[in-house]
Amino acid sequence: MKIAVIGAGAAGLAALRQCTSGNYDDEVVCYEKTDQIGGTWVYREETGSDRYGLPIHTSMYKNLRTNLPKEVMGYPDFSIPKKSESYLSRTEILDFLNAYCDHFALHPYIRLLHHVELVEPALGDRKWSVKVRDLQRDAVVTEGFDAIMVCNGHYFEPSIPEISGHDIFAGKQMHSHDYRIPEIFDGKTVVVLGAGPSGMDLALEISKNANRVILSHHLRETICTVFPENVVQKPDLMQLTERDAIFSDQTKEQVDVVFYCTGYKYSFPFLAESCGVWVDSNMVKPLWKHLVSIENPTLALVGLPYYVCAFSMFDLQVRFVLRHWHGERQFPEKEDMLKSETEEATTRIFKKHLQKRHFHMMGPEQGQYYADLANIAGITPLPPVLTKLHNKSSKRFLDDLVHYREDRYTIINDYKFLQN
Ligand SMILES: Cc1cc2nc3c(=O)[nH]c(=O)nc-3n(C[C@H](O)[C@H](O)[C@H](O)COP(=O)(O)OP(=O)(O)OC[C@H]3O[C@@H](n4cnc5c(N)ncnc54)[C@H](O)[C@@H]3O)c2cc1C
Ligand SMILES: *[C@@H]1O[C@H](CO)[C@@H](O)[C@H](O)[C@H]1NC(C)=O
Repeated sequence: MKIAVIGAGAAGLAALRQCTSGNYDDEVVCYEKTDQIGGTWVYREETGSDRYGLPIHTSMYKNLRTNLPKEVMGYPDFSIPKKSESYLSRTEILDFLNAYCDHFALHPYIRLLHHVELVEPALGDRKWSVKVRDLQRDAVVTEGFDAIMVCNGHYFEPSIPEISGHDIFAGKQMHSHDYRIPEIFDGKTVVVLGAGPSGMDLALEISKNANRVILSHHLRETICTVFPENVVQKPDLMQLTERDAIFSDQTKEQVDVVFYCTGYKYSFPFLAESCGVWVDSNMVKPLWKHLVSIENPTLALVGLPYYVCAFSMFDLQVRFVLRHWHGERQFPEKEDMLKSETEEATTRIFKKHLQKRHFHMMGPEQGQYYADLANIAGITPLPPVLTKLHNKSSKRFLDDLVHYREDRYTIINDYKFLQN
């Protein structure tokens, strides 16, 4: 088969590694629009657009340390090297991805500075047509493929709620996608919107520079973690005036910056409508197992689930897809795949009172998802210890945001870990 991989972040590298493993005789090309592998782990000072006029992809900030221990962040067949700390810096993760790329000799398959502009079903002898711009030469080429793995990430297209009065507010408004260094908040009063992992982490990070941080969220209970004294919690931000922020408890504060830590939207700007995949309220569909296009099963979207052990899941998803593409497993009938998606959406969204936009959120359900993929495809499962340790560290994050990164873990076997 001739396979195109779109993106050379952690997911695209896993796709390349499995496509070139020698199990199959595939031809594979990976297109990456930036000049480096590593995706969102590549830190860039610049925001906005790059020198080719393309939007900056990365959301990485200078002082980022991982919010998961390295013990759950490696690949199944390539773990992160031993050292005593569990929570690493962004550079250590990027170094790790480069080491993975070197170890499996993936460079020859990667075309850097190649931006995929359009993917559409083709009429000729290949199923797909991919239109790519070679950014250095500013030339467009169209190439045919039998199958596509979309690995373009999902933390690059900001989701920004429209707050009434946002257009008259005289202060600064920015999204976490464009955040790099805390010094920009020196002496300021900042409203941080959103209490997901990034809102909580960033409220803490900027509290050393900002004069005051107001963490605004709609979690029913106040977060139990102990924040520094200059961080206060407030309910939803309802309205902005020229200088003030007004919250749903009717309190009013004069603020300098509104910092949107309100997450991202799934976005596949290069997929033609005829590919048969779309985003509805941030749910990507119709997909089998959050992964395979039901309309066109030779199109796979790797890496959509979140609150997961990401790199290991990417590897599992890719192995799952390859088994099916090579006929070792058959895709179910289209109606059955659609039914399975609807059933999952019904149980997850209605019974668990989730919103549709959280359909791809795994968290406590990730173990079931991994086991399901492994069973269906008859491939090596992920060890349950990953899910257990992910759960433990997520709890620690919620309980003790200020100190959880000092925790150290050791994996003992497929089922057990130790906290040192
Ligand atoms: C600030 C931040 C902190 C995070 N912290 C953690 C953490 O601590 N632990 C953890 O496990 N996960 C963390 N994550 C999640 C992280 O996204 C995943 O770990 C993982 O890196 C995602 O990999 P990916 O390959 O799916 O996407 P990305 O890393 O986003 O890579 C996608 C690649 O596709 C390329 N691309 C996109 N469109 C095109 C196109 N049209 N043509 C060609 N190339 C294209 C991009 O340039 C990019 O290189 C964090 C994410 C962010 C944003
Ligand atoms: C940990 O697992 C338990 C049991 O499955 C679940 O109820 C809980 O929500 C999980 N916690 C986190 C933070 O994922």
